[in-house]
Amino acid sequence: MRVLGIETSCDETAAAVVDDCFLLHSNIVHTQGAVHATYGGVVPEIASREHIVHIVDVVQRAIDAAAQGTAHAADPWAGIDAIAVTQGPGLLGALLVGLQFAKGLALARGLPWLGVNHLEGHLAAAKLSPDCPPGPHLACIISGGHTHLYAQRSLDDVKLVGATRDDAAGEAFDKVAKVLGLGYPGGPMVEKWAEGGDPSAYALPRALPRHADLSFSGLKTAAQLAIRAMPSKPEGQVLRDFCASLQEAIAASLAQKTVQAALAADLPGIVLAGGVAANTRVRTLVAEQAEAHGLWAFAPQKALCTDNAAMIAAAGVLRLQRGERSDWSSSARSRWPLGSALQASIGSH
Ligand code: KG4
Ligand code: ZN
Repeated sequence: MRVLGIETSCDETAAAVVDDCFLLHSNIVHTQGAVHATYGGVVPEIASREHIVHIVDVVQRAIDAAAQGTAHAADPWAGIDAIAVTQGPGLLGALLVGLQFAKGLALARGLPWLGVNHLEGHLAAAKLSPDCPPGPHLACIISGGHTHLYAQRSLDDVKLVGATRDDAAGEAFDKVAKVLGLGYPGGPMVEKWAEGGDPSAYALPRALPRHADLSFSGLKTAAQLAIRAMPSKPEGQVLRDFCASLQEAIAASLAQKTVQAALAADLPGIVLAGGVAANTRVRTLVAEQAEAHGLWAFAPQKALCTDNAAMIAAAGVLRLQRGERSDWSSSARSRWPLGSALQASIGSH
C-alpha cells in the first residue's frame, strides 16, 4: 500500500509518498518562509493563498517522483492507494486548502482518505527511520506552536506529562531572533550564528526547578532586556556569543525536562519531534543527558523534524492499517489536542 500525504497546516505546502513498510518514495516541501519573512512571522491569510498557488505542483511532483522507476511510471496516480492529509491543529484557512484538495483527489480517484492530527504526524516521523528503537517512550514535540511532553505507550495511549506554560521552544527562538534582526524563522538563523559563539557568555534563565512543565517567557524577556542593555545592535562575535547562549539555555531546559519526564514516567527512551528537534545542540544535549541517566534518545533526520508530508503519510499508514477512514463531512480543526479520546473520533467526523 502506498499513501500520499498532504500537509498545509502552517507555512509549508508539502506532499510525500510513503508505503506500508514506512519507506519514503518522495518528499516535496515548498517553504513559504521568504514570503512571511517580510512580516516577521506567518500571516495566516497569505499562507492560505500560497498553499492554493503551490499545492497542485507540489502534489504532482511528489506523485511523479514516487512513480519513477516503477511499473506506474506511465500512470503515476495508479501507484497511490490512499490519501492522508493534515486535518488539524493549525491555521484554519491553511488547513482547509489541503483538506479540500485531498477530498477532491480522493473523490476523483475513488481512493480512501484519512484526516491526520499534525502532532501525531510529528511523532510518526520516527517511524520513517529503521534506527528508532521500538516500544514505549517519552515523545517530545518541540515546534513553533508546541512544546509538549507525552508518555507514549502505543498509537492511542498518549498521555500529556508536561508542556510549556507560555511560549513554545520554537517561539522563543523566533521572537528573540526577531529582536536581533535575524529574520523568520529564527531557529535556524540562531543556530547558524551560534557556531563559534561562547554558550556561557550570557547568563540566561533555564528550566523551572522542580516542575514537570517548561517555560520560555522568562528567558525571552531576559534575552530582550540583555539585547536592549547592549551599547549597540549585536554583531560579529557578540552576536555569535549571544546566539550560542540563547541556544544553550533552550537546549539545557529541554534536555533537563525530557530526561526528568522520562524517568518520572518510567520510560526507557526519548523521541524528539518538531522543528526545534532539527537543532544540533538540542539533539546532542538531550542525547548526552539521556545516556547519563541510562535512557536512549532518538531524533528523526532533520528534514523530517520540520513540517513535511512524509510524517503525515506515515501517521496515515498506521491508522489506515487499522481500518480507519474519514468521511466526506470531515472538516478542519484549528485546535486538536493529541490524545486517545479525540484521536478515536477521526473515524466518525
Ligand atoms: O515543526 P515546525 O516546522 O512547524 C510547526 O509545527 O510549528 O517548527 C517550526 C519551528 C520554528 O519556530 C523554527 O524556528 C524552529 O522550529 N526551528 C528551529 C530549527 N529549525 C526550525 N529551531 C532551532 N534550530 C533549528 N535548526
Ligand atoms: Zn509542525
